[in-house]
Amino acid sequence: MIIAVDGPAASGKGTIAKALARHYNLPHLDTGLLYRAVAATVRRLELDPTREADAVAACDFDELTLADPVLREEEIGKLASVVSAHPLVRAALLQRQKRFAHQDGGAVLDGRDIGTVIAPDADAKLFIRATPTICARRRHNELISHGASVSFDQVLADIRARDTRDSSRSTAPLVPANDAALLDTSFLSIEASIEKAIALVEARRRKE
Ligand code: DC
Repeated sequence: MIIAVDGPAASGKGTIAKALARHYNLPHLDTGLLYRAVAATVRRLELDPTREADAVAACDFDELTLADPVLREEEIGKLASVVSAHPLVRAALLQRQKRFAHQDGGAVLDGRDIGTVIAPDADAKLFIRATPTICARRRHNELISHGASVSFDQVLADIRARDTRDSSRSTAPLVPANDAALLDTSFLSIEASIEKAIALVEARRRKE
């Protein structure tokens, strides 16, 4: 079974995807990490993230980069959104994600274009969302708890800018697949969001 989980920044999609992977005992890939690894490599090599050729050169990143804590930085998230808008960067990372999705036994992947591009044939597609203010509040709390000093307004502005960029790019924009089930987590606890996600996957499975 392939489960595709898409949605904007800080919507809760990562938490939900991990929980689904545990529940169904499936391998999980956070595809945002691949774009974050490209971004971290661009920064380390002092390349220009807005130049497609520079960003493509960084797609050949060292596998160890995927475990680097810098990938979690807000700045890297922003840079990842910039490099991910280049069609050739998306093309360079495509096969790796498709292979992961279509491995024997299935998988759970989360990102922006899993249901539309990476696995249009997924057995269940979820599109997770929450209002930008709620996403920003969650992200802000997370950053503060890790000792960062950043204002709520800054986090909200960054999330808005990132989602606008991700949704308006021409290649593989952030949009729900036609057959995705929408899950708004704005007023749900983590536990309730996970329960709802499992119920939606089960409903999709029964339809088949
Ligand atoms: O999910 P995340 O915050 O780690 O993603 C970082 C950026 O990577 C996101 O703003 C856009 C890009 N991304 C993408 O374009 N496609 C994906 N499948 C996953 C992430």
